[in-house]
Amino acid sequence: MPENRDWWKRAVFYQIYPRSFMDSNADGVGDLDGINRRLDYLAELGIDALWISPVYPSPMKDFGYDVSDHEDIDPLFGDLAAFDRLIAAAHERGLRVVMDYVPNHTSDQHRWFRESRLSTTSPKRDWYIWKDARPDGSPPNNWESIFGGPAWHWDEASGQYYLHLFLQEQPDLNWRNPEVVEAMENVLRFWLDRGVDGFRMDAVMLCIKQADFRDNPPVAGDSPWKKLGLTLEPLHTLNQPELHHMLRRFRALLDGYPSRPVMIGETWLFDPAELAAYYGPDLDEFQIPFNFMGTRLPWEAAAVRDALEAYYAALPEGATPNFVLGNHDVHRLATRFGYDNHRSAGLLLLTLWGIPTMYYGDEIGMQDVPIGPAESVDPWGLRRPGLDIGRDPARTPMQWDATLNAGFSPPKAKPWLPLASNYRERNVAAQREDTASTLNFYKALLRLRREHPALQRGGFAFVDPVPGGVLAYVRSAEGQRLLVAINFEASAKTVDLSALGGAGELLLSTHATPAGAVASALTLGPHESALILLSA
Ligand code: GLC
Repeated sequence: MPENRDWWKRAVFYQIYPRSFMDSNADGVGDLDGINRRLDYLAELGIDALWISPVYPSPMKDFGYDVSDHEDIDPLFGDLAAFDRLIAAAHERGLRVVMDYVPNHTSDQHRWFRESRLSTTSPKRDWYIWKDARPDGSPPNNWESIFGGPAWHWDEASGQYYLHLFLQEQPDLNWRNPEVVEAMENVLRFWLDRGVDGFRMDAVMLCIKQADFRDNPPVAGDSPWKKLGLTLEPLHTLNQPELHHMLRRFRALLDGYPSRPVMIGETWLFDPAELAAYYGPDLDEFQIPFNFMGTRLPWEAAAVRDALEAYYAALPEGATPNFVLGNHDVHRLATRFGYDNHRSAGLLLLTLWGIPTMYYGDEIGMQDVPIGPAESVDPWGLRRPGLDIGRDPARTPMQWDATLNAGFSPPKAKPWLPLASNYRERNVAAQREDTASTLNFYKALLRLRREHPALQRGGFAFVDPVPGGVLAYVRSAEGQRLLVAINFEASAKTVDLSALGGAGELLLSTHATPAGAVASALTLGPHESALILLSA
């Protein structure tokens, strides 16, 4: 790949959940060769970088987020040779590849943990977080697992508790131990030396725990953690000040590579100032601390505007904003925002000032697939029934065509999760042929983004006044101005363009075929959004 230290600033990232993208060997689970086969599709779509959720060897208790070997590939997904082929084939097409890196915990089957667990004097004992019971036998403090229940598991054989902030099968590493730091930094080097273009760092906010293991306080009434079923605020388990030192070390390591790999953080923080701190004091931590506000917002113009203003205002000088609207942990955007709004959400994501991360299938309008209890497999959903937390609905197989199994798996296979019932109509092959499809909408949008520097890196200003229920903004660069106007509501709205110079050219609409000139008043139909090149 050509060297360009700021490549990530202009990139559109695309998340692949590898179990569900493309199954090349008919076992019902997607794999690396499957992704490889679909690279031409991704290049044609017009994205720049893939982020692939974990493909490491794993007992799959948390579908790969329980890593049992950081330096290999699970046979379910292929092998190191398949990984190398994928990197080479992606790079040939100008696509970068970002790996998932899971630093907070390993699988309980990892050789480090197996050794750690042997006895209190094991040389690896202190690689994980072990504590004695309190005198009454209870756990050392009140910490709870994000997936539900106590975060401490009693290990009968060695007579201590170990900490797991997720599943019992996902023991937390002890990042205060320099040997762990060194071993896990070597993992970064292992993949960088194989040519990966960066990492998305999983659950990284939890890596360092409060030194004295203080009890967490009860959740506040309006806490976002309460909605996830937590009874305690993760005050002493999340977002500890020592994390920044660890992140600056990671970043220095990555910056030592001439390919300029990107460091992306899974930073679930909803206070914009707290989130902004993860760029680092000298922009020396994450280039992309994921901004998840778009996974929590209602589809309302005023709420979106308020959140954008607060976020942009909190950014440190020189930082590049970013946006995530969906991923493998939350409901799909076409379900959350309503199917009527799915293209508008795509337009918003790809035209705001900031780096967009798409989620596979959004480009064809995939929605959550209802999954009954008999077919549910997500450990979080299964532990929190009734909380609408299950992640299976957003992880279903990609819909490639109308054949049995949607072209994801061959007809004889049984995909690991059910397919959407409408896959025969809603799929890549059908949408390729239909000029008015969501796929062609996304392709046009991604092409326009590449063609217009204003959209990739231009200035950003809200347009006022606009009718209630509309959000409008102008992106500008090199004398070019592009207007984005989004109608969040189910009634038509008219936006007065006279203050903006009065006229322009309609480049893209969520609803109509672009029809050239726009006069001084732009009328948006229900749920319609438009991208307009303003007259100079
Ligand atoms: C992150 C991942 C999620 C996983 C968890 C534990 O939040 O995105 O899928 O279950 O970490 O690794």
